[in-house]
Amino acid sequence: MLTTRLASSADVPAVQALCQMQTARYHRADPRLPDSVVVSPWTILSAEGACWLAEAEGTLAGMVIAESEHWTPDSPFASVFPRRYLRLHLALADRADPAAILPLLLTCLAHNPATRPGLMLMMPGCDTTLTSVLTSQGFTPYHVIAHQPMPATLPDGPPVTARIRPAEWHDVNAVADLMMESWQFHAAYQPAIELSPLIRDGCRRQASQLLGDGYGRVLFVAEQEGEIVGFFAIGLSIQDPLTQPALFLRGQYGDIYEVGVRSDWRRKGIGTALYHVAWRWFADRGVSAMFVNYAPTNPLSSRFWPALGFDDTWINWWRP
Ligand SMILES: CC(C)(COP(=O)(O)OP(=O)(O)OC[C@H]1O[C@@H](n2cnc3c(N)ncnc32)[C@H](O)[C@@H]1OP(=O)(O)O)[C@@H](O)C(=O)NCCC(=O)NCCS
Repeated sequence: MLTTRLASSADVPAVQALCQMQTARYHRADPRLPDSVVVSPWTILSAEGACWLAEAEGTLAGMVIAESEHWTPDSPFASVFPRRYLRLHLALADRADPAAILPLLLTCLAHNPATRPGLMLMMPGCDTTLTSVLTSQGFTPYHVIAHQPMPATLPDGPPVTARIRPAEWHDVNAVADLMMESWQFHAAYQPAIELSPLIRDGCRRQASQLLGDGYGRVLFVAEQEGEIVGFFAIGLSIQDPLTQPALFLRGQYGDIYEVGVRSDWRRKGIGTALYHVAWRWFADRGVSAMFVNYAPTNPLSSRFWPALGFDDTWINWWRP
């Protein structure tokens, strides 16, 4: 029989072992995923979150950690994510039945006074059993993280007349406008996005941050007859569970942050031309693979990234 209870400090080693077991299982199923994980005690015991355990005859079968997320309207993420939700971290023991454990753990969260209207949960796409359970529990994919090993060469894209170059300070407003258009476009396909009234300021701030230092991150723009018609913001990402929760096996990766092409210039090869320049920048820095976040509800990016060879690795599930 399954029972649930809140975790205490005595449970920390067992929860860490459970997370390690799940990480190893996923790595066996998809070798691109990390082979080890570091779960700090303060994540398990945080007063802000809550860690609920499911036990079968006294043996740990699963756990969920819930952290409250709240994006204020002045955050650059306010127009990207839902404003308030619980971010869940789920771990299940080998041979545990997600169809029995997940609904039970979700019921526990309803007793948590920090409960917010929505739930977000990121799980690897290779866990197809969990996928069907999440779907039956009302979750849908909010965004995916798609991965591609660094190709040695790229096939030629269509010829473009736009000039691709690193952005300069005077490009920031034009990039911010394209970014704003992109988030308005995303919001039209994802009802959980509540565009911030401060979206213009947020995009300006984010565009100037994305300008980067040209060393660890860079912003490329596509210029056509003196106008900025596209941008591609990228950076290097060290994946290592010792420094931060890792999405992939240890190594240096190319992280594609934000991309947009002006609506009247789409489907003319500009996105592909920007990608080629980004790929060269990554190749010169010896990255082993690239990854990008995209919304499967977005009818354009959900075609663009797979067409370039990216493969969905992680799915961030959402339940309003
Ligand atoms: C996604 C986006 C950047 C693509 O830029 P783009 O310049 O239009 O892309 P390209 O013309 O280089 O298209 C490359 C390939 O992607 C696929 N693709 C792009 N748009 C598509 C569409 N509307 N329908 C079907 N396939 C499409 C095609 O395979 C295309 O190759 P093809 O034209 O030879 O068939 C652009 O559509 C955009 O800005 N969208 C709105 C903002 C956004 O979604 N940003 C991405 C966030 S992750």
